[in-house]
Amino acid sequence: MTVEIRLEDGILWAKINRPESLNAINEEVVAGLKKVVNTVKEDKSVRVVVVTGEGKAFSAGADIKMFSKSTTFQARQVVEDLGKVLEEFEDLAVPVIAAVNGIALGGGCELAMACDIIIASENARFGQPEINLGIIPGAGGTQRLARLIGWKKAMELCLTGRIISAQEAYELGLVNKIVPHDKLLEEVKKIAEAIKLKSPYAVMLVKQSVNRGFKASLNNGLRYEREAFSLSFSSSDAKEGISAFTEKREPKFRRRRE
Ligand code: CAA
Repeated sequence: MTVEIRLEDGILWAKINRPESLNAINEEVVAGLKKVVNTVKEDKSVRVVVVTGEGKAFSAGADIKMFSKSTTFQARQVVEDLGKVLEEFEDLAVPVIAAVNGIALGGGCELAMACDIIIASENARFGQPEINLGIIPGAGGTQRLARLIGWKKAMELCLTGRIISAQEAYELGLVNKIVPHDKLLEEVKKIAEAIKLKSPYAVMLVKQSVNRGFKASLNNGLRYEREAFSLSFSSSDAKEGISAFTEKREPKFRRRRE
């Protein structure tokens, strides 16, 4: 399978498996990512998704060999399909963690940026090198990157195609944490397990509030947050969490999404 999907104790591990082409993104990879989205929607036991890559790369971006045979219309369709699935990642009811095990270039960097948390191995490298091919990023590179690291830095990276180290990506705020390469999945699992202990409903509302607010004006984001707060407050998990605090015990939140 081009994207290997494995569900283990509420964590859905999705691994892009085209190491011979550095996990370049073709239609099959996009279909595999859509399958991840559908699995989360159908199986309420999924609490966290982790996306990673087989071999030495996370993903070297869109499949350039495929592009070499594509018409403009076909290439546009691929980035549109990829772009839509990345938006669906942002809208999923569960957090998605990118475990970036190596290069994340072009569409690979765009995939990582659509995830909620980016954990990078020391071997990770990021960049939007499309300019070297005479094209531009097509699945968020000029948009999410500017919002994440700032207008001028994103402009520089997209104009020069410069590839940056995990350390520079961390300093720019693109990456949450850098971990030793051989500990990458172990460290990501620790974060996923910590999130699993929280209320699934509150986790969903936090994700929605941050992501929707990020795309809206501050006023609209603040309004959305107040509504989401009220929804969280009326949940059974809120009753449990607040009671547990007053009774000086650990809360027992629901384990599954409803
Ligand atoms: N598409 C298809 N095949 C790719 C690929 C890609 N994006 N990136 C690497 N490969 C293939 C190589 O062609 C090579 O295959 P062969 O053995 O058959 O020749 C294999 O993967 C290994 O790659 P290299 O030999 O090049 O490995 P390297 O370690 O010397 O270099 C690299 C690594 C710097 C990442 C280099 O492969 C590279 O520059 N790749 C292209 C990166 C890129 O430009 N990405 C942007 C794509 S466009 C895009 O993503 C648009 C969008 O916004 C969606």
